[in-house]
Amino acid sequence: MTTSSPTRPRRRRLLSLFEALATPHAVDRYLELLDPMATAREMRARVVRVARPTPDSVVLGLRPTRHWRGYVAGQFVQVGVVIDGVRHTRCYSPTGSERSDAIELIVRAHPGGLVSQYLVRHANEGMVVDLSTAAGEFALPQPRPREIVLVSGGSGITPVLAMLRTLVDEGFVGRIAFLHYARTLDDVPVLGELRSLGQAHGGLDVRIVETSAEGRFDREHLDDVAPWFGPESEVFVCGPDTLSAALREHLDLRGFGERMHTEQFRIASPEPVGPTGGAVSFTRSGVTTENTGTSLLEQAEAAGLQPEYGCRMGICFSCTAVKRSGRTRNVRTGETHDDPDQSIQLCISAPVGDVEIDV
Ligand SMILES: Cc1cc2nc3c(=O)[nH]c(=O)nc-3n(C[C@H](O)[C@H](O)[C@H](O)COP(=O)(O)OP(=O)(O)OC[C@H]3O[C@@H](n4cnc5c(N)ncnc54)[C@H](O)[C@@H]3O)c2cc1C
Ligand code: FES
Repeated sequence: MTTSSPTRPRRRRLLSLFEALATPHAVDRYLELLDPMATAREMRARVVRVARPTPDSVVLGLRPTRHWRGYVAGQFVQVGVVIDGVRHTRCYSPTGSERSDAIELIVRAHPGGLVSQYLVRHANEGMVVDLSTAAGEFALPQPRPREIVLVSGGSGITPVLAMLRTLVDEGFVGRIAFLHYARTLDDVPVLGELRSLGQAHGGLDVRIVETSAEGRFDREHLDDVAPWFGPESEVFVCGPDTLSAALREHLDLRGFGERMHTEQFRIASPEPVGPTGGAVSFTRSGVTTENTGTSLLEQAEAAGLQPEYGCRMGICFSCTAVKRSGRTRNVRTGETHDDPDQSIQLCISAPVGDVEIDV
């Protein structure tokens, strides 16, 4: 039998009344003047811990508002920060055990990157950020496989670190191999912890490959850390395309390709399908350019516009805009869309011929 607190409907009724009184502004617009964490509907988080383990990364401990429903290790959240008066949203994968109430992020400064550089340089305790619910399919299955191989490169360590910490927290009794690629050991933000975990847990083997000295993925690295690798093993990978591609080729050769689960932080820019001709009109900005066939986001940026974006790979919907007319092609699925006044994602939509878009 389930019971519900009588205060909940009362709170909801009160909230609706406040919202009616506050119109046209959302209640949260008033509440945030008093305390940015006292939101009625929007989810936020306060930065309660900041550490800078390497020169180009920051570890953020976040305390979320009461709306937070947790995450499954491997998923990501969207974090919004205001920089020079403009809100920017980016995806980050929590790195802690999924059993933890707090959220930990590790952000690596992307060369020339706006939000990552800002967080690495300026994040401080007390700062409040916008937060989304967790999302994403990259996750350990239930029941857990008996043998788990976690592979990462660079900042791709974050989702697999969450998986490792979760498995350790659960008292996982199977075998785990943790294979991480970094330029040098100094670039690994949790080097001490990984080494201690490797020593403390008999079933866990950790191997850090310094790419500056040892090069990129080689089957020997896998054989070294997971000599038991076989049909019972599941592989979870997050890192550069080159790492995923090399590992996939190796696993395919051994007949284990379908055991590999991949997360990516970025996708390669879509190749133009060839000259489709026509012009792209960004109607709200009054800018028209020749259609180059790349994504509408890239064409807008090349034209000097700055549409909002988050992931640049079709998962966060920050870049959604209304196509007024013309045909677009979804570069991930190949589907084309001809309807007028249709919402599309600029980062994964390429115009085919003349297109008018409300940007
Ligand atoms: C699911 C997911 C999980 C992630 N988890 C993490 C994580 O845990 N830790 C982490 O550090 N990162 C993570 N990322 C990456 C993160 O979301 C950001 O992409 C990263 O921090 C860079 O953001 P930025 O604002 O610093 O860079 P941006 O300013 O967005 O620049 C990034 C790149 O986008 C391109 N670009 C930007 N502006 C333009 C322009 N005007 N014209 C052309 N190209 C442009 C450039 O190639 C540039 O190098 C994750 C990404 C995804 C999708
Ligand atoms: S930027 Fe995330 S969906 Fe386009």
